[in-house]
Amino acid sequence: MAHHSSHGHRAAVDFGEEIEHLRESAEAESERYRRLAEQLSEPGDRVYVDVGCGGAGMALALAAARPEARVIAVDTAPAVVDLASERAEQAGLAIETAVADVGRPESLATAVDAPADLVWARGVVHHIADQQAALGALAALLADGGRLAVDEGGPRPQFLPWDLGVGRPGLEVRLTEAGSRFKEAVRGEHHGVSLPYGWNVALEQAGLSEVRTLNETVVKPAPLQGADLEAALRSLTAQVDRCEEFLDVEDRAAWKSLLDAESPHWLGARRDLHHLEIQLVYVGLKG
Ligand SMILES: C[S@@+](CC[C@H](N)C(=O)[O-])C[C@H]1O[C@@H](n2cnc3c(N)ncnc32)[C@H](O)[C@@H]1O
Repeated sequence: MAHHSSHGHRAAVDFGEEIEHLRESAEAESERYRRLAEQLSEPGDRVYVDVGCGGAGMALALAAARPEARVIAVDTAPAVVDLASERAEQAGLAIETAVADVGRPESLATAVDAPADLVWARGVVHHIADQQAALGALAALLADGGRLAVDEGGPRPQFLPWDLGVGRPGLEVRLTEAGSRFKEAVRGEHHGVSLPYGWNVALEQAGLSEVRTLNETVVKPAPLQGADLEAALRSLTAQVDRCEEFLDVEDRAAWKSLLDAESPHWLGARRDLHHLEIQLVYVGLKG
């Protein structure tokens, strides 16, 4: 969301709406967070940090997995931190919260006042102009033997068959391309530094070792139905909204028709959508 709010070049986003998106996303992905918390937590861990916590999906999963550990949920936006506290209270789980900026290591170090056994950072490092420096600041929070886990997504998920009956073939490929150009434009607005070597190398350069990935593959053949179909439509709609300015007029019109429930081409009425995705989390160890 900082993409939109901090630059002025792109349309301002309704912050309340963003809070609802963060809440929904944390709720929708609670099962994935539960699995990841099981894999990432270890007996004897004492301090966990969820940085750029959004709806605190991971903070809550860690608090549930290891009730004896301290869990600190950190975000730069006070309203997001309030959302984290609210969700923790609703779930009956104890977490601490703090407002801090990943781009300002001293604010981060103040918020996290004890060496961490696990720092979880999903969807936040790309908000920082110097991502490599941000990884260094996150790695500096770790205790010896602590892990930094970074989730910046994997390849774009794939949902559509090639013959949509509308628009030029290759529509979804061009949406992926538009997504890359969107990210490049955001980086330009940040005066951001390029990171053209991948998260595994970036974690090594942040001084971490034994870098590995936790992979989950999603392979759902057609037809997608119910919640799976809704999730596919939500994902495509969000990507089209985000990247619209990088699509040509013809592609924009095709997406409008495909994502409109009133249109004869509405994707929600099709029985040939599928879902292929690799979800990647990179993990590096200190010491
Ligand atoms: C894309 S959301 C991801 C939220 C959550 N981690 C998730 O996966 O659902 C990015 C989050 O990072 C926060 N954020 C953006 N820039 C930040 C910064 N410089 N320091 C700390 N948090 C930041 C935003 O407020 C938002 O909650």
